[in-house]
Amino acid sequence: MLSEKDLQALCLSAMPTVRKASHFIFKQIGKVSDDAIEAKEKNSLVSFVDKTAEEMIVEGLQKILPEAKFLTEEGTVEQNEGDVRWIIDPLDGTTNFLHNVPHFSVSVALEINGELVMGIVEEVNRKETHYAWKNGGAFMNGRPIQVTKTEKTEDAVLVTGFPYSIEDTGPILTILDHWIKNSRGIRRLGSAALDLAYVAKGIFDFYYETTLNAWDVAAGAIIVKEAGGMVSEYDGNDTFLDSGRILATNGRLHQQVLDVIQRAYGDNMIIV
Ligand code: IPD
Ligand code: CA
Ligand code: CA
Repeated sequence: MLSEKDLQALCLSAMPTVRKASHFIFKQIGKVSDDAIEAKEKNSLVSFVDKTAEEMIVEGLQKILPEAKFLTEEGTVEQNEGDVRWIIDPLDGTTNFLHNVPHFSVSVALEINGELVMGIVEEVNRKETHYAWKNGGAFMNGRPIQVTKTEKTEDAVLVTGFPYSIEDTGPILTILDHWIKNSRGIRRLGSAALDLAYVAKGIFDFYYETTLNAWDVAAGAIIVKEAGGMVSEYDGNDTFLDSGRILATNGRLHQQVLDVIQRAYGDNMIIV
């Protein structure tokens, strides 16, 4: 069992690896030619930048915790279940990166016995590192961060994302319609990991999105929790890593937002 001090030490020792990958990505901005871009699935783009960044991260983390297994987006290393596992998105916001929208990140989380215990999300362009470990609080570049204190969704600024490929947009549009009429504003920025980091540091009051993968949200989720917020699946349970549906709030707004989401899905809370 790792103590809080052990987790802090692990987090600080993983950080140079994350920053190295982030610096690599930064240097590639504007340099990826169209023929170096592949579509993994509809609208899900990837290039050598994602893959090389992932290889750099895996190599660095293997030195810190040789027994740990990996779940990574680009699959550059053997993917295994294990008691101790890194969950990695080497470049979250690839579409932004490839289109020169300056908003993307590197996301690395550590899971022990199925529980998230540490997360690092680095915003590449701003060189801002958001991080947290279990029971240690949340930080950005050495300073503690906290969620907002907003009490009513009418006063909230929220961020969300839209699936790259989906047939039934019904509930998503119903929920958007509600926030257009009943919030201070909606943003869609294009990096789930940063959406969560921005909730953690009090820029946004809440974030929700569906059709995600564990690597999009693992690191950001523990950072939100350690910053005083709440994270759940749309049904209110803790299974967001598996289901790919996540709601992260400042805590005070959690039930109000769940009510809106659940009303939109109605009896049809089945994953689409
Ligand atoms: C994507 C981003 C985006 C979200 C997508 C993700 P990627 O990750 O997090 O904000 O809306 O669902 O797949 O593909 O850039 O790593
Ligand atoms: Ca991602
Ligand atoms: Ca990615």
